[in-house]
Amino acid sequence: ALKIVTIGGGSSYTPELIEGYIKRKDQLPIKDIVLVDIEEGKEKLEIVGEMAKRMVKAAGLDWNVELTLDRKTALKGADFVTTQFRVGLLDARVKDERIPLSHGVLGQETNGAGGMLKAFRTIPVILDIIEDMKEQCPDAWLVNFTNPAGMVTEAAIKVGGWERTVGLCNVPIGHCSSASEKLGIPENELFFKFAGINHFHWHRVWDKTGKERTAELIDILYGPDQNEDNNHLKNIHSASFHYEQIKDLGMLPCGYHRYYYIEDEMLQHSIEEFEKGETRAQVVKETERRLFELYKDPALDYKPEELSQRGGTHYSDAACEIIASIQNDKRTEMVVSTQNNGTITDLPYDSIVEVSGVVTAHGVEPYNWGAFPSGAARGIIQNMKGMEETVIRAAVEGNYGAALQAFTVNPLVPGGTMAKTILDELLYAHKDHLPQF
Ligand code: NAD
Ligand code: G6P
Ligand code: MN
Ligand code: MN
Repeated sequence: ALKIVTIGGGSSYTPELIEGYIKRKDQLPIKDIVLVDIEEGKEKLEIVGEMAKRMVKAAGLDWNVELTLDRKTALKGADFVTTQFRVGLLDARVKDERIPLSHGVLGQETNGAGGMLKAFRTIPVILDIIEDMKEQCPDAWLVNFTNPAGMVTEAAIKVGGWERTVGLCNVPIGHCSSASEKLGIPENELFFKFAGINHFHWHRVWDKTGKERTAELIDILYGPDQNEDNNHLKNIHSASFHYEQIKDLGMLPCGYHRYYYIEDEMLQHSIEEFEKGETRAQVVKETERRLFELYKDPALDYKPEELSQRGGTHYSDAACEIIASIQNDKRTEMVVSTQNNGTITDLPYDSIVEVSGVVTAHGVEPYNWGAFPSGAARGIIQNMKGMEETVIRAAVEGNYGAALQAFTVNPLVPGGTMAKTILDELLYAHKDHLPQF
């Protein structure tokens, strides 16, 4: 029987997870689901936790759903531990986004200045969780959703030494369904190969006759006649890529590449949101408030449609499927953050990369990718990976010089005095959640 523990159980995304488990009830011999949170999130945990219990009951299942603030006890004997916490909750994200924007710089809560700060707050916590896991559930798998998911996964594996960690994201899922829709070909008749790092990966697509369809998709999505929605992410402004540049790239970008390839336009849009008091974090706080109003309704026992307003909608398709695939050696093809081990020759052997592969009972077997087609992709991803490594080092050591170094080399943050001003302001604003600095 399975015990699944979710850290950050008070997240509004929890019904996603429960729905995903229910869908896979025949593959998952669940006995216990334990939702863990902290004092700050207690109220949320209670509301969404009761809702989770109702969902399980409505599905006619006898799973034991438990809510707790005692992480250590919760972890005892766990088979899978999923993480979806946000240190400082959404108020911290407001700062992550707004402080950089107040200086005319993108905040971006996963790979910009905000994302680096989120990593500084999160990495010490994931390492603590791993310390508890070593004692309480030494054989468990750690399924990490917590952003910045690539850096958090890299810290868990390389610093925490927890090799049974996989990082997940819902972005690739959306790219697959949109390709299938645009080509009018069922998804299971297409072959997708993704490579890169979290929120910074590219992909190629083939059909069942063996023909590569990548260039055609670039034309449909980003070509001169583009008139359809080419962005499936609710949290990212739908600005258009420059066709000639993407065509030259020869691979499909991910939604987050907009921040890099059309940075000025994305910045302009973010500044407008900033001025209206409507940065993504501010909008999401309101969505979250409405969601919890719904969750309070004792008659609601299914995931409400409103949750699709969040950028991470459908993420349970990844989280629950990876658990089912490990549990049953299903060998499902998925895109995950895992150890490179030579899969991408342009990145260090021990880096965490986000790639396609099959998920077996012993973990992920990634598909070989090789090198990127040009220096344009190789150069920027090596820059990004170097930035990530530096963020992790800064977070673990509480090393201010490394933090400033990371801000300086991050492509979304201008170097020099500006990098230092923003870093200092962010470190001060978040000081209660940054004991290491
Ligand atoms: P949230 O602000 O609702 O936080 C979730 C919960 O984490 C809260 O209830 C909070 O109290 C709790 N928490 C904070 N610190 C904790 C700690 N030390 N231990 C245990 N619980 C703690 O966040 P959210 O908007 O629901 O997002 C949750 C996380 O999932 C974020 O890190 C977000 O970036 C991530 N996410 C990732 C993906 C992905 O594609 N990988 C998709 C969606 C969300
Ligand atoms: C995307 C990303 C997630 C991110 C989310 C933000 O789906 O994959 O990693 O957390 O969007 O969505 P939000 O609704 O919180 O802005
Ligand atoms: Mn993601
Ligand atoms: Mn920079």
